[in-house]
Amino acid sequence: MARITAGVAASHVPAIGAAVDHNQESTEYWKPLFDGFGWTREWISKEPPDVVILVYNDHATAFDLRMIPTFAIGCGDSFRPADEGFGARPVPVVQGHPELAWHLAESLILDEFDMTVLNEHDVDHGLTVPLSLMFGRPEAWPVKVVPVLVNVVQYPPPTGNRCWLLGEAIRRAVESFDENLDVQIWGTGGMSHQLQGPRAGLINTPFDQAFMDRLVTDPDALRRIPHLEYLREVGTEGIEMVMWLIMRGALGPDVTELHRHYHVPASNTAVGHMVLDASA
Ligand code: DHB
Ligand code: FE
Repeated sequence: MARITAGVAASHVPAIGAAVDHNQESTEYWKPLFDGFGWTREWISKEPPDVVILVYNDHATAFDLRMIPTFAIGCGDSFRPADEGFGARPVPVVQGHPELAWHLAESLILDEFDMTVLNEHDVDHGLTVPLSLMFGRPEAWPVKVVPVLVNVVQYPPPTGNRCWLLGEAIRRAVESFDENLDVQIWGTGGMSHQLQGPRAGLINTPFDQAFMDRLVTDPDALRRIPHLEYLREVGTEGIEMVMWLIMRGALGPDVTELHRHYHVPASNTAVGHMVLDASA
């Protein structure tokens, strides 16, 4: 049977992708950020999972205001890095796992989560930047990826509790896949950031750090954070943090924190990163 062995949380700031693509990881600005991913790169290179269920949001790239699925799943064979306005990132095409993805779609929909099935879509910085953070600049990505997309761009996004419940359903779905697969789940986006309006540049370090603490010690409290609290405390784009709750919900009640990194700023964003072991 397939099983979820670990969860990873990571921000997905597009400027991080540009820094990797232009060999800038050792510059004064970027070194402190990338240093915090060194532990994870070593950990994951020792025993890469077979598949990553990568929870991210599309930023009006594959979708736009004509089509806004709340939850979607990428069932394609592969996913091209998208052109987000400056040409596609020079990173490998992402290989999917259509058999697992279709199994997840079937299991989740019959479990009463109405997933939109994507048979073809390009992936933006929300998916490729976390891969670059974890693997650097490989010729081919060392893992297969099942993308799970969440609308956090156009109001109303799903609640944190709904995200958590989807995570629990993903765990059930993975555990009913009849193949021996080591599966990780990654929750991406966040942490505090607001990219527009008078509060652009907002960062709330105490909230971010308490969120990371509670992800381990009191995740139930995070399920009840309402949208307005995210908007007020961590900015309009801070709402991306609900995607971390899908990851956490999929790990089961007890996790062990293996690694944590927090860095301000990368572009306009507070970068948070955690690795949680689910095998306890
Ligand atoms: C930035 C952060 C994001 O999460 C994003 O999707 C786009 C831009 C930023 O900080 O620049
Ligand atoms: Fe984003």
